[in-house]
Amino acid sequence: MLKDLKELKNKAQEEVKQANTLRELERISKEYLGKKGELTQILHSLKDLPKTSRAEVGKETNEIREFLKAEIDKKVSGLEETDKKEEEKKEWIDISTPAPKPNLGHLHPLTILKRKIEEIFNNMGFATIEGPEVENEWYNFDALNIPKNHPARDAWDTLWLKDDDLLLRTHTSPVQIRYMEKHQPPLRIIVPGKTFRRDATDASHDVQFFQIEGLMIDKEVSAANFKAVIQEFFRQFFAKPIKVRLRPGFFPFVEPGFEIDMSCLVCGGKGCSTCQKTGWIEMMGAGMVHPNVLKAAGLNPKHWQGFAFGMGMDRLVMMKYKINDIRLFNSGDLRFLKQF
Ligand code: DAH
Repeated sequence: MLKDLKELKNKAQEEVKQANTLRELERISKEYLGKKGELTQILHSLKDLPKTSRAEVGKETNEIREFLKAEIDKKVSGLEETDKKEEEKKEWIDISTPAPKPNLGHLHPLTILKRKIEEIFNNMGFATIEGPEVENEWYNFDALNIPKNHPARDAWDTLWLKDDDLLLRTHTSPVQIRYMEKHQPPLRIIVPGKTFRRDATDASHDVQFFQIEGLMIDKEVSAANFKAVIQEFFRQFFAKPIKVRLRPGFFPFVEPGFEIDMSCLVCGGKGCSTCQKTGWIEMMGAGMVHPNVLKAAGLNPKHWQGFAFGMGMDRLVMMKYKINDIRLFNSGDLRFLKQF
């Protein structure tokens, strides 16, 4: 019997040695030490042995049990250790690898070209000025010689705020008055900024858009000076010579007033669908500042004169970048924005 036990021990020991997975070791443990395991069964059958050998066999079996248990535990922790190392190897980080590039944003197309426009005018001596987006009736209409019954004051055109007198400015022209009130001529300014109208939106109209106002006041300023300034601006902005023409146009705050056209960039002035076959595109309103406007701002029209102009900045940017829908600017659509 003792000899059988010795063989059993050797056999089990060999199996443990060969095992190289936790699962195999579990099976071996079950086979020898489990409830129905071989060593457990020997212990159960001790009572059938002659009294003389019972104690010795029992002792030996228990020793083998303890030994085998220890061997299995040792092997299990050995395997667990190598598993851990394997895991760690897989998790290894190469700290010399360059980090992924951060996803940088960039300026909005309107901002890019607003800066360009400012640069061109600043170089011609015009200062960049800002004014409030919420205006009152005096600055937006009265001071600009727009009569009380003018349709522009209608609730259909202007966004009125609850407070009776306040509105979202319909143009940047009120800043002319605000600036002349506080500064003595000679002066040259441009005013880029947001403007608002109760327009139905379509490809060329939005409720919010940008304008650039211009104002030059001095002792002797003529419409010819205006034409030269604006022609030079277009030449620099579009990076090619542009023809400009002045047509008579009416705005209450200028006298005389003009509509300014530039030669169509798409067809080079020959006539196409963009310019409705005329070869010209309407770009802005302008004129010689009306004496009433100078008076409203506290200047004497006998001493001072000048020109003013106002252009749609979105329109200008659309022409430059060949964008066909004004609503894209505020759409937040990255497919559009990423192109600039
Ligand atoms: N304020 C006018 C508008 O929004 C544009 C304009 C026309 C501005 C003539 C001017 C000007 O300064 O002289 O339609």
